[in-house]
Amino acid sequence: MKSIIEAIHLSKSFPGVQAVDDVSFSLQRGEILALVGENGAGKSTLIQCLGGVQNPEGGRIYLEGHAVEFSSSYDALQLGISMVFQELSLVDGLTISENIFANRQPVGRFNNIHWQELRQQTRELLDRFNLNLDPSMQLKRLSMGQKQILEVLKAISTKPKVLMLDEPTSSLTESETAELFINIRKLQQEGMSFIYITHKLNEVFQLVDRVMVMRDGKHVGTRAVDEVTEQDLVAMMVGREIKDMYGATSAPSTKEECLRVEGFSRKGVFENIGFRLHRGEILGFSGLVGAGRTEMARAIFGIDPKDAGKIWLEGHPVEIDHPQDAIMMGIAYLTEDRKVQGLFLDMAIRDNLIAPALKSFTNRFDLLNRNKIAESARERVNTFGIGTPSITQQVLNLSGGNQQKCMIAMWMGIQPKIVIFDEPTRGVDVGARSEIYHKLREFAAGGTGVILISSDLPELIGMCDLIIIMHQGSITGEVSRADFSEELIMEYAAGIRNHQDMGVPA
Ligand SMILES: Nc1ncnc2c1ncn2[C@@H]1O[C@H](COP(=O)(O)OP(=O)(O)OP(=O)(O)O)[C@@H](O)[C@H]1O
Ligand SMILES: [Mg+2]
Repeated sequence: MKSIIEAIHLSKSFPGVQAVDDVSFSLQRGEILALVGENGAGKSTLIQCLGGVQNPEGGRIYLEGHAVEFSSSYDALQLGISMVFQELSLVDGLTISENIFANRQPVGRFNNIHWQELRQQTRELLDRFNLNLDPSMQLKRLSMGQKQILEVLKAISTKPKVLMLDEPTSSLTESETAELFINIRKLQQEGMSFIYITHKLNEVFQLVDRVMVMRDGKHVGTRAVDEVTEQDLVAMMVGREIKDMYGATSAPSTKEECLRVEGFSRKGVFENIGFRLHRGEILGFSGLVGAGRTEMARAIFGIDPKDAGKIWLEGHPVEIDHPQDAIMMGIAYLTEDRKVQGLFLDMAIRDNLIAPALKSFTNRFDLLNRNKIAESARERVNTFGIGTPSITQQVLNLSGGNQQKCMIAMWMGIQPKIVIFDEPTRGVDVGARSEIYHKLREFAAGGTGVILISSDLPELIGMCDLIIIMHQGSITGEVSRADFSEELIMEYAAGIRNHQDMGVPA
């Protein structure tokens, strides 16, 4: 095989961080190369250098043997290097086809857009992934998973030589992921080459030929997948072994109810949802993307309206019409979409960390105590292992996983009675993932009721006392720890099995 891309001594730094440190590597034609490493290891920055998004300070890039320099991602795209970003970059107000072909619409002689052809080409791309969607549908009606697939379709539509994917499966279900892999392999057969960033090590073994490991900006090593084990990779990534990933389960000693939801409905989104959450319990919600779990959580938290339904908090009926109500009552919601809803991206880490608990940093004249704030922020940066040169760094400059840790640290500050985690480990590396699981257990051990919405079945099974499964907006099943099995949960999630058919009470 001949190399399609070769990078020699690439370096890129940001104030206080050497993000990419003297990295040399090569990508062969028709190869799928995985790029793994802890949060902040420099993976995204490296491929952004190759894709013309970041300007490396040192080193050279060769494309098919020729030295190249890019001043923008447009340059790179022209030469056949395309990338799918870690964070979604589509525009909600446009249609599917307008998004995929933004700035590249097929035009006629008079520069008129060929709408027919635009729809046709979009249709063909959607068909590749068996997506039965109307090309003229507005993007905002799609799920995160569907949007993520569209990002990939958009990148493929330029027919690149090299496609770089930054955690493309973070919002995908198992079947969507399988579909993506089938397509990547097809494109590989057609000669396309891939750099594939992921935190899911099982994907490395399913999909790629070689795997490259980065740590602290450096290239630690590249191995053929059939010559390494998952443990080898973890050791290369973290430099230590990870034991006791999920921590010990300890079922809550009391059955004190902290939250009861009854008859929760929103037309066309979720229907007649009811459940109880107890103090110290970790209650999981499983389901396919689009099952309505996030929508349900948003309605409970008062972000979205509901058509019907009641909530009891510690046995008392309450009305939650606004997130502020929920926060005042001691409910925290960590959204799945941290970029849009979870964090103040342009603010310093310090100011994010104290945001929900601002009141506790004031004196009786309502003046903020700066020293106390800095001290508390520093302490939490340390306990949560947020990788940053300083507490005044803007959150948007943190790596994806470190943003996630920041959001969790922020909500810890209000000592909630109930906390809803929506996909808390999406894009989080193995080491940090384990830290987050242990934090979740600490919440529960302290008497907080924990709701865990997750698409990661091993995670739900490792963490929860009880798992509720939703399918198309309704609860189809409920499985307690003793009966946990991936197959059973998948059957409920796919709607093949339903407790109502089987006479099991809701
Ligand atoms: N625009 C920026 N300004 C300042 N620092 C940055 C910027 N972009 C990245 N960094 C820093 O560079 C380092 C490498 O970040 P990068 O996003 O490449 O990591 P990553 O390996 O992709 O991590 P993750 O798995 O969390 O996505 C991190 O310390 C990050 O905080
Ligand atoms: Mg990244």
